[in-house]
Amino acid sequence: ERIPVICIDGPTASGKGTLAAAVAARLGYHLLDSGALYRLTALSAAQHGVGPQAANEAVLAELAASLPVRFDATRVWLAGQDVSEAIRTEQIGMQASQVSQLPLVRSALVALQHGFRRLPGLVADGRDMGTVIFPQAPLKIYLTASAQCRAERRHKQLISKGISTTIADLRADLEARDARDMQRQSAPLKPAEDALLLDSSELTIDETVDRVLGWWQARQ
Ligand code: C5P
Repeated sequence: ERIPVICIDGPTASGKGTLAAAVAARLGYHLLDSGALYRLTALSAAQHGVGPQAANEAVLAELAASLPVRFDATRVWLAGQDVSEAIRTEQIGMQASQVSQLPLVRSALVALQHGFRRLPGLVADGRDMGTVIFPQAPLKIYLTASAQCRAERRHKQLISKGISTTIADLRADLEARDARDMQRQSAPLKPAEDALLLDSSELTIDETVDRVLGWWQARQ
């Protein structure tokens, strides 16, 4: 059975999540936000008093392999508690980026990610969807935008939630996270060889969605 997967990878705050959700909605496909799984692992670790450092790799991998997690289209529960907002903080994002460096944590999450591939199809967003998790996917997008542009978008989002930060701080933060994701040994962030590069710096959300849907239709 061939169940199609569209992979959308790229750096932090490039708009992957928004793009993936819009494409999935337009095609009626399932959605995998793989970053949420690393965030859930980080949150679960914090709740168990386990730090995100490499010394705790085995315990972190055990937590990742047995996440008591439940999803619906818009929300996520951990051990019965709605954590949809709790996993979105900058602090959990930083800790997620630390636990995601650890190979045993990454392999502990593979089966869970494969389970999202169900009919009629899947849109998966992350860092290694096209390179490691779904290497046979028929369409792979590598979504980028300039660091300044990504920091400005994230700033706008946070301001609208009443959280005050500076664009310069956000930019430093996301550049640090990208460097860590690109330089790690295990599944580093990079475009798959057969990925199509899409720079969203000068495009609206609707334009990026149309671009991807156009590529998808061209492949049918
Ligand atoms: O995309 P998001 O910011 O939610 O991801 C949180 C962290 O999880 C990222 O900074 C990255 O280090 C890690 N991640 C990963 N592989 C993925 C998705 C996310 O390593 N497929």
